[in-house]
Order: sequence, then C-alpha cells, then structure tokens
Amino acid sequence: MDRRDAPRVAVVGLGPFGLEHLRQYTDLGVEVVAVTDTDSGRRAAVAQQFDVAVVDSFAALLDRKPAAVSLVTGPEGNRVLVPQLLAAGVPVLVEKPFAETPADAEFLAGLRGAAQLVRPGHVLRYDQGCRQVADLVGSGAVGRVLAIDAERHRDTDHARYRPQHSPASLTMYHDIDLAHWIAGAHPIELHARQAGSGSVLAVMIRDARDALWTLRSSWTLPTGQVRERLRITGTEGTLVLEGSAVHLLDRSGDHVWPVIGNPLRTELAEFCADVMVGRGPQSVTVADAVTCVRTVAAIEELCHEHAHTEEGQTHDRS
Ligand SMILES: NC(=O)c1ccc[n+]([C@@H]2O[C@H](COP(=O)([O-])OP(=O)(O)OC[C@H]3O[C@@H](n4cnc5c(N)ncnc54)[C@H](O)[C@@H]3O)[C@@H](O)[C@H]2O)c1
Repeated sequence: MDRRDAPRVAVVGLGPFGLEHLRQYTDLGVEVVAVTDTDSGRRAAVAQQFDVAVVDSFAALLDRKPAAVSLVTGPEGNRVLVPQLLAAGVPVLVEKPFAETPADAEFLAGLRGAAQLVRPGHVLRYDQGCRQVADLVGSGAVGRVLAIDAERHRDTDHARYRPQHSPASLTMYHDIDLAHWIAGAHPIELHARQAGSGSVLAVMIRDARDALWTLRSSWTLPTGQVRERLRITGTEGTLVLEGSAVHLLDRSGDHVWPVIGNPLRTELAEFCADVMVGRGPQSVTVADAVTCVRTVAAIEELCHEHAHTEEGQTHDRS
C-alpha cells in the first residue's frame, strides 16, 4: 500500500494483538502516527522495540489527528473510547469482543455515526477460506444449509484472559459470527454445556431458518497449539474448511480450493482503503457485533444456570 493511498492511523492497546495491528500496518506501508496504552510498562517496552511515537494518553493520541484508529484494548476500553472517537468523527476498528454486555453493545451501536464509522473487528470475515465458504454457500453450491459445525481450540495460556474473557467471548465468538454470516439467520434456541472450570465449551443452536449449529471451543491445548475446523452441510453437499484448504464434497466429487493470505492484514488494508474514500464497513456491521455479544451472553447465562443445577443435584445426592 502506498503511504499516499493510506490514512494516518493510531493504535490503542499494546498487548500482543495491538502489537500485531502495529506490525501489520507497518508491513502494509501505512503510517502509524501514535500508539498508546494505559500501562506505562507496555508503553516503555514498545518505545524500545518499535520506531513509533508512543504517547502517554488517549488525549495525546487524538492530538496527533489520526484519520483512523485500531482499538485493541478489550471491551472496557471500547465502552469508554468508542464514544470519544465518534464524537471526534474518527473511523475506528474495534477488536472483538465488541462489548462485555448486550446493553453496552446496543449503546455503542446506537451512537450517532456508529454504523458508518465503527468497524467491528471480525477478522474471519477477511479470511480467504471463510470467504470462499461463504461465497459457495451464497451461490447455492450446497443447497439449503442444514447444519454448521465448528471447532476452535486454543492453548491453556488463554487462562490469562480471565476473568474478563471466557472461551465464549474470546474464542467461540469467531464461530458465532461465522455461523450467523454463513447461515444468514439469528439464533433462536440455545443449549450450552461447559466443563473444566469453564475451559471447555459445547453449544447447540437452532437458527431462524431451522439450521443447526454445533460449536465447540476450549482452552486446553499445549502452549502455542491451535486447532480449528468448519463444516457446512447442505441439502446438496458439504463444505469443509480445515488447514489450508476448502473442500466441496458433492455428487460430482471432492473440489478443493487452497487457502492463502493473512486475514488481519486484509482486514486492515480494507479498513484503510474504505477510510480513504469515506466508505463505511462493507463486510461486517455493528448489528453483527451486537448479535455476537447477545449470543455470548445467552451462552454464558445458560452455562451458569446449568452449573448451578448440577451443583444442586450433586448436593441432593450427597
Ligand atoms: N481477532 C482476533 O483473532 C484476536 C486475537 C487476539 C486478541 N483479540 C482481541 O484483541 C484485544 C486485545 O488482545 P490482547 O491479547 O492484546 O490483550 P491484552 O489484554 O494483553 O492487551 C490489551 C491492552 O490494552 C490496554 N488497555 C486497556 N484499556 C485501555 C484504555 N482504555 N486505553 C489504553 N489502553 C488500554 C491494556 O493495558 C493492555 O495492555 C482483546 O479484546 C482480544 O479479544 C482478537
């Protein structure tokens, strides 16, 4: 990307994923005018490692007049900072989870200018494999969608995200959005089970078009390991996204599309391109983010209720 064709951006939140935004913008050739974090230790570490202006407050970052901002703080930061960015008219990419509660999500989505200026960070909408699956479903390649089955497993180090996050709000969030996008329908009926002190989660959902979603996520793998798989079963065939390929299995055989690319880089490049022409989000809306937050909240409530029922039964038996 030529610097002249890109907005001057800023990054708020300098944890591992904020640094990933910083690296991707830099690799894309986009000028990063400032970065900040409330944690002075993280600010100091970034100032040492990166050739970027590290400022000590959000106000100082706004003074640098970024044309666009990545918010990579987690949902508490989103609730406080999105209103300020909208008041300043600055387009913002808001990393997931969009909000901690449905009420916060609806508040942010209802702010003046949100539909145009706020881009929820749903990175898999920019993943080549997921886009291929969505396109094939959209073109009718598998007929009517009957079932969506997704697994997304992460390592035990993810426990560091507690108590603010859970496998539902951090990991299954991706599959809730994927299923909602691909099925084109909202969840109607939910069942959820968790185990391992909440590090293993299994969910069944029936959507408004009567498709069944089975989603499983965990934080139980050894350090650094990741496993994920997506299957869509339709009336005419099945799609499988696993590893670096999409397979369409139908009566004419096994059709394979290789998957390449870096979804975060694509997301940031499309964000920058849209900001340059004053275009709002094309691939994902604030309403999509509200659906994810509502679904996560419903799953967590069900897990909580189920845990209490089990606890009651254990006490009854003892
Ligand atoms: N899309 C993805 O695939 C993906 C992957 C990893 C993380 N994420 C999301 O990115 C976010 C950050 O992840 P992380 O691993 O870097 O988390 P992290 O908690 O390590 O880092 C967040 C940073 O934001 C800072 N912060 C919080 N509130 C702030 C505020 N108001 N102003 C300035 N700084 C503030 C914190 O001090 C912290 O340094 C999370 O919401 C996470 O869910 C998304």
